[in-house]
Amino acid sequence: MIHDFIYDIPVRVYFGRDQLQHLGEELKKHGTRVLMTYGGGSIKRIGLYDRIVEQVKAAGLELFELSGIEPNPRIDSVRLGARMCKENKIDVLLAVGGGSTIDATKFMAAGACSDIDPWDFLDTTKRAPIKQALPIVTVLTLSATGSEMDCGGVISNPATNDKLGRMSSKLLPKASFLDPANTFSVSPYQTACGAADMMSHIIEVYFNMDQDLYMLDLFMEGLMKTIVRYAPVAMREPENYEARANLMWASSWAINGFIDGGKRQAWSCHPMEHELSAYYDITHGLGLAILTPRWMRYCLDETTVQKYVQFGTGVFGIDPTLEPMEIANRAIDSLATFLYDTLGLKSTLPAVGIDDSRFAVMAKKAVGGGTLPAFKPLTATDVEAIFRMCME
Ligand code: NZQ
Ligand code: ZN
Repeated sequence: MIHDFIYDIPVRVYFGRDQLQHLGEELKKHGTRVLMTYGGGSIKRIGLYDRIVEQVKAAGLELFELSGIEPNPRIDSVRLGARMCKENKIDVLLAVGGGSTIDATKFMAAGACSDIDPWDFLDTTKRAPIKQALPIVTVLTLSATGSEMDCGGVISNPATNDKLGRMSSKLLPKASFLDPANTFSVSPYQTACGAADMMSHIIEVYFNMDQDLYMLDLFMEGLMKTIVRYAPVAMREPENYEARANLMWASSWAINGFIDGGKRQAWSCHPMEHELSAYYDITHGLGLAILTPRWMRYCLDETTVQKYVQFGTGVFGIDPTLEPMEIANRAIDSLATFLYDTLGLKSTLPAVGIDDSRFAVMAKKAVGGGTLPAFKPLTATDVEAIFRMCME
């Protein structure tokens, strides 16, 4: 069944090489006091920091800074940012970086408008309402999460071994600057992890329990083919603008809400992966790359096989005249070959330093004490079995 839906993605996107000249005017719409947030320094190494400061100063804005936002961003960084916003009467946040910086900034923006501890927005036992948030503008430097054009964010709390996500329309960036050249310096490894993450965002929606709009299925297959085609090019030729541009725009469209149209959905691999990142601080895309082919294998049966056939023939060009089960297994093999051979990502949990000692607790947390109501509903026992499949 195709359900009713509302399509509403009010993020102004400036795409391309010469768009930063509009940064000042975008920020000015929201006030004069700007808090720029960024990570461990990559933006300085690529000269982006200087270019941004120049634009902000030229626009006559007052600039404050918060650096050091970590990959798998931590709640303490969010708390610090929210406090800085209040102390400095910040009008607008400018997140410069990948998903971690943008996600952390989203919760700083919400925290700045509230008196509660920002963790309460994420804590599943509290889920404090997000009534208001400061406006956010982003400059994206890594194609992966889609945070630049979606309303979600994921934050880690090392004190509780939690990594939790939350969505709210209040967290949607007002504008995002997407210059593919800003991703030339992304390492082959991070490029590969980003590609695995975007693939997963599409697969989570494509493999779901509801009927798709046919046009969206084809759109998703187009996005996946784009990633399969261009990720290896970007790894081989980091300054290939065409490859970086295709990956950047694909990353935004993989998760900006467009492909969700008309279906109820629940994701499978992301809740499982967030447990791996929460306990072992591994890179999100890498965890997804290890889990996804195993999860697909686990969910394949006579009732689900047609979706795999569609995926295998549509994305990997597998011969449609073969038996459905044969196509399905070849489709999973093709995805695994892409992730592990072409992108060179590690393929097992032990290879990234994870043993089976916490599988039971992680599985329980992944299903939130119940069942993941996804493509094929998964209990904690199912999730544990999928973790076990990743041991070799
Ligand atoms: O910190 P710096 O020095 O900037 O280095 C970063 C970081 O070490 C580096 N990097 C970023 N841009 C670069 C660069 N290095 C060289 N050149 C550049 N241009 O890359 C490293 C990873 O950055 P990070 O922001 O952590 O990567 P990513 O964009 O993959 O973000 C991952 C986070 O986003 C969450 C993940 O769980 C994870 O915490 N997600 C957010 C989502 C969302 N908001 O919708 C959805 C996703 O499913 C995901 O869960
Ligand atoms: Zn993801």
